[in-house]
Amino acid sequence: MCGIVAYVGERTAYPILIKGLQRLEYRGYDSAGIALINNETKVYKCKGKVRDLENHSKGQDINGSIGMGHTRWATHGEPSDINAHPHVSMNGKFTVIHNGIIENYAHLKKELINRNYTFQSETDTEVLANFIESIYLDKKVDAEMAVRLALTKVIGAYGLVISCSDEKEKIIAARKGSPLVIGVGDNEYFLASDATPIVEYTDKVIYMNDEDVAIITRQSLDLKNIQNDQLTPIIQKVELNIEEIDKGDFEHFMLKEIYEQPNSISDTFRGRISIDKTNLFLGGIADVMPKIVSARRIIIIACGTSWHAGLVGEYLFEEYARIPVEVEYASEFRYRNPVINEDDVLIAISQSGETADTLAAIKMAKESGATILGICNVAGSSIPRETDAGVYTHAGIEIGVASTKAFTSQVTVLTMMALLLGKKRNTISDEMYYRLIDGLTEIPKKINDILSTEEDIKEIAKTYQNATNALYLGRGNLFPVALEGALKLKEISYIHAEGYPAAEMKHGPIALIDENMPVFVIATKDKSYEKIVSNIQEVKAREGKVIAIVTKGDEVIKKLADHVIEVPDTHEALAPLLTIVPLQVISYHIAVMRGCNVDQPRNLAKSVTVE
Ligand code: G6P
Repeated sequence: MCGIVAYVGERTAYPILIKGLQRLEYRGYDSAGIALINNETKVYKCKGKVRDLENHSKGQDINGSIGMGHTRWATHGEPSDINAHPHVSMNGKFTVIHNGIIENYAHLKKELINRNYTFQSETDTEVLANFIESIYLDKKVDAEMAVRLALTKVIGAYGLVISCSDEKEKIIAARKGSPLVIGVGDNEYFLASDATPIVEYTDKVIYMNDEDVAIITRQSLDLKNIQNDQLTPIIQKVELNIEEIDKGDFEHFMLKEIYEQPNSISDTFRGRISIDKTNLFLGGIADVMPKIVSARRIIIIACGTSWHAGLVGEYLFEEYARIPVEVEYASEFRYRNPVINEDDVLIAISQSGETADTLAAIKMAKESGATILGICNVAGSSIPRETDAGVYTHAGIEIGVASTKAFTSQVTVLTMMALLLGKKRNTISDEMYYRLIDGLTEIPKKINDILSTEEDIKEIAKTYQNATNALYLGRGNLFPVALEGALKLKEISYIHAEGYPAAEMKHGPIALIDENMPVFVIATKDKSYEKIVSNIQEVKAREGKVIAIVTKGDEVIKKLADHVIEVPDTHEALAPLLTIVPLQVISYHIAVMRGCNVDQPRNLAKSVTVE
């Protein structure tokens, strides 16, 4: 949510900020703005995308080698020119960009209004800018101290970049709950919400921790906490290729990422499967393996697509490791009073590693003494740093807001974990263990086969591009695939879509079925095949249109369904990894045909760092 970029150095800041904002636009894209700090501070901001900001700042003074930029996902106040960041305090002393939510902003605002402060915008950020300024002017302290004092009074989450007009050679950054990464160059520093705007300039980064404050000039970086204790910055090398953050020959990041899945899945299992395919190694959880093996229960917490991956994990862990599993929305889990025991293992799944609710749920669960694991994609993000151990998905950076390759990599990790646990707990036969490991290594090739039918899938998309509703049905471990397929469609095409366990259809959704209703049925050969064939018949009896995802060569469903999309045969435990792919492709094409902005769907953001 919201992208932040800043630069302090010798180069002209403007192009670095604009390019950085374009790289970060997937985090939020309802308005954008920059501040260039020169003799005076120039602020340019407007509603819309980064390209609107570029037009808006054309012909203006864009000089300066210190600056900050922001791309917004609105929380307080509608997307508008005024509500866009940066925000400048009433007397012009402080310029602020912010990611997060200041929860006590209303209280602070009231106090400031009583002291004759006036406000231009509806944002919590402007309140913070004025609050810092009021401390600065009242207490006659320097900017850094004013910021630290203000932050001790602030409740909420923030990633902040701040400049003071009396101390133009420095910028101050602070983090609590919303990520900030510092890039370290030669006599120059970069700041960003994640490393994507930084990697083309330097691979040396410092991940800021909660309550860190960084004071940055061209020559120096001073890292403290809000209590003013000095901290030692830990410089790490970031592993991110510049090619990964370009679309290449693809029209959209989403399509590129769909096509990357054969590679991203291979990258997820590479080095973790023995050459003879008889064993698995998950180095990141090796130290805590005894605790996982003896776990009484696994609790999986996640949001969005990652939650769907968690549901697939539930089937795998229960089937092969025989451990009871609960899968929870992080946002629900953290606000009730869940029973968590010391011998539970909690697995947080998150592509970004920054989702606020998932992070907060981890922090809450820590008190229980349970072992906490992470399955994350972004190295160095907050969740891997908060967990006891974990497994990176190594899917590579995912930029399309609708998650695709992250999902299949998460399911790959969960599959490996479940098999490894089953092996260690003696709940899986050797034969099945070897068979599924081997089956997993075949998945990338099979996804390539599915992708080679893209044109046929596109034809089906044409037929349903004007649908207003869609139903997705699946059973067992294909029910989460139905949920994920429905989520893909609604996220990017704005068609209302629901995923349902196929048998539950009779308890409600069947009432919606008529000749206009596309019903996607995930019906590959498995133990509930006969049942799902009956479900297809039930839909057809009500004139619904059936698009069935079937195992290659299925002649039975071909006769019943309006359309079939074939996927190669695999063991049923691995079927989610294949069956989701055509659903991603069809959602993509329907959205493109409807003229939707696939990579930046309305109202959504890639990384949800507010609660
Ligand atoms: C947002 C994204 C989804 C993602 C969800 C959870 O809603 O748009 O694609 O699945 O957040 O994000 P996480 O990074 O925790 O997996």
